[in-house]
Amino acid sequence: MTFLSPGQLPEHPIVQNIDKTGRQINYLRISVTDRCNLACMYCVPRKNIPRLSYKKIARYEELVKIVNLAADIGISKVRITGGEPLVRKGIFTFIKKLHEIKNIRDIAVTTNGGLLKKQKTNLRNSGIKRLNISLDTLDPEKFEFITGKNYFEQVWQGIMTAYDMGISPIKLNCVVMKHINGNEITDLAALSLKYPFHVRFIEYMPMGSSIVDETQQMLIPEIREILDNKFGPLVPVQKSVFDGPAKRFRIRNAPGEIGFISPISSHFCSECNRIRLTSTGRLRPCLLRNTETDILGPLRQGALDSELKDIIKTVIKNKPAAHGIENKTSDKICAQMSEIGG
Ligand code: GTP
Ligand code: 5AD
Repeated sequence: MTFLSPGQLPEHPIVQNIDKTGRQINYLRISVTDRCNLACMYCVPRKNIPRLSYKKIARYEELVKIVNLAADIGISKVRITGGEPLVRKGIFTFIKKLHEIKNIRDIAVTTNGGLLKKQKTNLRNSGIKRLNISLDTLDPEKFEFITGKNYFEQVWQGIMTAYDMGISPIKLNCVVMKHINGNEITDLAALSLKYPFHVRFIEYMPMGSSIVDETQQMLIPEIREILDNKFGPLVPVQKSVFDGPAKRFRIRNAPGEIGFISPISSHFCSECNRIRLTSTGRLRPCLLRNTETDILGPLRQGALDSELKDIIKTVIKNKPAAHGIENKTSDKICAQMSEIGG
């Protein structure tokens, strides 16, 4: 098995999956479970939500099949998300299988990091080269307030495990909320001075029945000003193949980076190259629109490969041009973020 670093990634040989606005869709995000060992206030509602039954969740063989079909028609990058993907049994074996799929050039994982230390050997053997890890605070008490669990140490050790293993880049995701972690922006950014981490600040997206309210949103221009004032003007970093939505910068001379993800203040819909598969096997062309199309049902009912590929192609073709969240032209997003995986 050979693994390419993101800088070396060749293009997918098939240039297709062009949607009706001319965007090339080559990135599939797969939520492998709705379950999570944390309950972050911006993601999971504090009230008990019913867990999906195992029968409703796509099995690994089914996911491998869907990724194979998607790869045949132009998907080349896959991201595994949850809930928390590492709570699902067999996840590393599944990821190894994905590495064998022709035309898949990049496989990444978004995790809360809590199980990385415990799963060190599996992580090493899985072929994962890069990780995105949620980290909203450096204060253990606040961590517990935000996530509902006293796991700060465990998560930090998980980050260090990945770092010591040479996983690179490690991207740290911080959803910024006024009066909660807004006062930690400079401390979190300073991690990029000490480590080669990409510290990314994310605007809170209101979804499902989250307890965070929109007045707590902190937008990127405000965050950027705080960082410029503290560290001097940030230096832009050139984009590379398969970059996600983050705009990349660096504090002068820092080994790491700063990223800004601004779905609200400056959305990136015109560059969006992705579709999502929910843990129940529904294709979702836009994170912030309610539309979904079932692909798992037809697969289980014995649809032909060509029919399943047509389902994917139709979803891509009809991908909405933009979400409408900032000017309220979209409906309220019903799904919890934890069902879709960000
Ligand atoms: P990279 O490929 O590593 O840059 O990944 P990423 O930033 O796309 O993935 P990650 O799972 O780390 O997500 C970071 C944040 O970006 C989360 O808050 C996601 O919800 C958000 N995000 C990712 N894709 C989209 C998108 O298509 N639309 C919107 N609005 N937000 C997105
Ligand atoms: N708004 C913005 N980002 C969110 N995430 C989860 N819920 C939200 C939300 N409501 C982010 C977390 C996680 C990533 C997958 O999605 O930071 O790292």
